[in-house]
Amino acid sequence: MEVIIRPVEELGALGGHLIATAVETKPDAVIGVATGSSPLGVYDDLGRRVDAGELSLAGCTAFMLDEYVGLPEGHPERYRTVIDRDFVSKVDIDPADVHGPDGLADDIPAACAAYEEAIRDAGGVDVQILGVGTDGHIAFNEPASSLASRTRIKTLTAQTRRDNARFFGGDVDAVPRHCLTQGIATIMEARHILLVAIGTAKSEAVAHLVEGPISGMWPVTALQMHPHVTVLLDPEAASRLQLADYFREVYDGKPVWEGF
Ligand code: GLP
Repeated sequence: MEVIIRPVEELGALGGHLIATAVETKPDAVIGVATGSSPLGVYDDLGRRVDAGELSLAGCTAFMLDEYVGLPEGHPERYRTVIDRDFVSKVDIDPADVHGPDGLADDIPAACAAYEEAIRDAGGVDVQILGVGTDGHIAFNEPASSLASRTRIKTLTAQTRRDNARFFGGDVDAVPRHCLTQGIATIMEARHILLVAIGTAKSEAVAHLVEGPISGMWPVTALQMHPHVTVLLDPEAASRLQLADYFREVYDGKPVWEGF
């Protein structure tokens, strides 16, 4: 796990560089995309690179992590709408090549199985962008999720619904209770994982991720078992790390040839 602590305004460009390098190496890369505020700087940076003619995602495919159950098509907070707004509209990926779990399916287990198969058929995810919830969830794998879980329906915790109420005009009752989410084992199959965490509210989850024991109570800690994870943190998100000075020293001495 590579932990990089930099001022918040540098994180988008660092993440953008990481994704752009992956796409340069493999123009038909499969990118895992996340909703939430954490990846926005990365999406903006990718958009800037595409506008400048330095990068094209036209050959790429994208898979979303999760989706609310029951929000109608076009709802502003439906995750497909959010990803269209925050990512697809900024780059040149074909919207038909962006996939998400079907939160409106009549047969939810069949929709989850079909989603797993679609990811497999695409060759698996090359680079997965991730945020983390204040309770340590990744995608919508809430505390006590199975570390071996696959795409399935989950019930959101009260804390996540409170955290996400800001996207629903502050009305916690408007936040759906259920979601479909890639499982932890699904996410762990991505070849490279880029996690972005910003702000003091994330510092506890980040401390568990980097320095805590692996536990389903903090689902993000599963990433300790992944061979290729890059963690981008601002100083506030890193504020509870005992090894923060070490991580800064490692990054300051990072050889240029090393890449991410
Ligand atoms: C939601 C999403 C997660 C995301 C989390 C954190 O719960 N399902 O994928 O990581 O929010 O969001 P933010 O980055 O806005 O803090």
